[in-house]
Amino acid sequence: MARENWTSSIGFILASAGSAIGLGNIWKFPYVAGENGGGTFVLMYVLCVLLIGLPVMCSEMLIGRQMRRNVINAMGKMEQVGEHAWVRYVLCGLMVGLAAAFASMHAWGLVLAALLGVWWFAKKGFSALGWICTAVALAILSYYAVVGGWIVQYIWLSATNSLSAGVSETATAMEVSKAAGTLFGNYISDPWRVLVGFLIFMGLTAAVIFGGIRDGIERISKILMPALFVLLLVVIVRSLTLPGAWDGVVFLLKPTAEALKPQVILMALGQCFFSLSLGMAITVTYGSYLPKKQNILKAAGWVAVLDTFAELLAGLAIFPAVFAVGLDPTGGPGLIFGALPATFNAMWGGPIWATCFFAMLLIAAVTSSASLLECGATVFIERFRKGHQRCSRKQAVLIGFIGCTVMGLLSVFSTADWSHLEPLHKGCTWVMGKLAMGSWFDLLDNFASNWCLPFTALATALLVGWAWDPRKAAPGLLAEDDAGRFPTWILTAWAFFIRWLAPIGIVLVFLNLAGFIKL
Ligand code: TRP
Repeated sequence: MARENWTSSIGFILASAGSAIGLGNIWKFPYVAGENGGGTFVLMYVLCVLLIGLPVMCSEMLIGRQMRRNVINAMGKMEQVGEHAWVRYVLCGLMVGLAAAFASMHAWGLVLAALLGVWWFAKKGFSALGWICTAVALAILSYYAVVGGWIVQYIWLSATNSLSAGVSETATAMEVSKAAGTLFGNYISDPWRVLVGFLIFMGLTAAVIFGGIRDGIERISKILMPALFVLLLVVIVRSLTLPGAWDGVVFLLKPTAEALKPQVILMALGQCFFSLSLGMAITVTYGSYLPKKQNILKAAGWVAVLDTFAELLAGLAIFPAVFAVGLDPTGGPGLIFGALPATFNAMWGGPIWATCFFAMLLIAAVTSSASLLECGATVFIERFRKGHQRCSRKQAVLIGFIGCTVMGLLSVFSTADWSHLEPLHKGCTWVMGKLAMGSWFDLLDNFASNWCLPFTALATALLVGWAWDPRKAAPGLLAEDDAGRFPTWILTAWAFFIRWLAPIGIVLVFLNLAGFIKL
């Protein structure tokens, strides 16, 4: 059966941007930036995107397009094409290093997992990586959908004008924001209400996937993207005109030397992969549908620019309000839910704007979560067979859906605290040692985006940079008829970045975090 293709290059870019732009930009970026020193984090983030994110994204698209198959087969095949079997042992070595790092954090369960990983990599090579990507993608989806569920709830709250319920007409922005904070706190500590939103969000995600790539993702992205940007601009205008807003702009854009800590770089790196949807081979899957007549460098450049732009806009929409109403910028995952209601309340027709905004955000989130489920589904479709019969798309989506929902329940019941899941808490502390901070939701987010994503991105860089020869592979980045028309230094730069800069950068950050070196 012929694989479907994207109908146009704009379609591919929009769909990739649809996967990239989501809650990571509008919900996660502001609070992670807030917790990690504002301007300094933003600067590190932009550097990570340019130096590591972009080259890795090109590589993933390239693997997908050259191999034209699902992640697992693509990675395995790629390793066979290159003649450097030793690279898989480098990966094993890195896993041993990771095991040592986990041991230093008393994370005994993870040590065990990493050692199993060593054996698995040695035996199966890079195709083992595909399975890890799939597992992590579904794990990310399981808590991503919880946040998606919050958004569903917030659409309802804004549409019924209850975002600022109980606050008097004359209340100051500060009072409104305080009430909004309480509202959010009460909401996430009621698991049954969170569960409803979560299930609706998972249902929407599965529905998009059932539509197939062309109708589902492409069509929705074309309408959504411009609308979301316009709404963000509207919110920015209002939040910038709140009294005291300027401090927020300064906080977001002005780097300070004292805020520069290794932890900040790791968070920036993790956020970079998370936001660009990298390290999970999603872009491999998308790239496998990309026709040869398109230029990968251009496509990846566009996606990175749009994604970073959306993040900066989100920052500009949130931080002025955070400072104007006196919220704590290090307040964590609830940050936007305290800041946005104050801004909307100060707008003419606030509830309408708020409803539209959360609705757009929901669509952006669904196109992202769909890409996470898609990644799992494509692997299941090509891997689970009965005799010669493949597992159908419906069945594959169903398996992913059920797995995520079951796992997501853990996040739903532990967002606020562990009281509903006490026994699990003990197990987590044994498995994850010092990494097991906060609720299940927090630790899964921390582990997946700051450890798993950089690790799989590192493996991708090794695969393309060493198992394959990037100087030979580089022309594959261009469109068929582009040869000779594109400056070759860009290709050389890419080859250098993917071979040296990305792996060394990621390894240094890991070593530092594990306390093995001091940067
Ligand atoms: N990038 C998306 C966001 O910013 C989330 C996402 C979609 C993702 N697919 C991914 C994150 C793959 C990591 C890996 O909301």
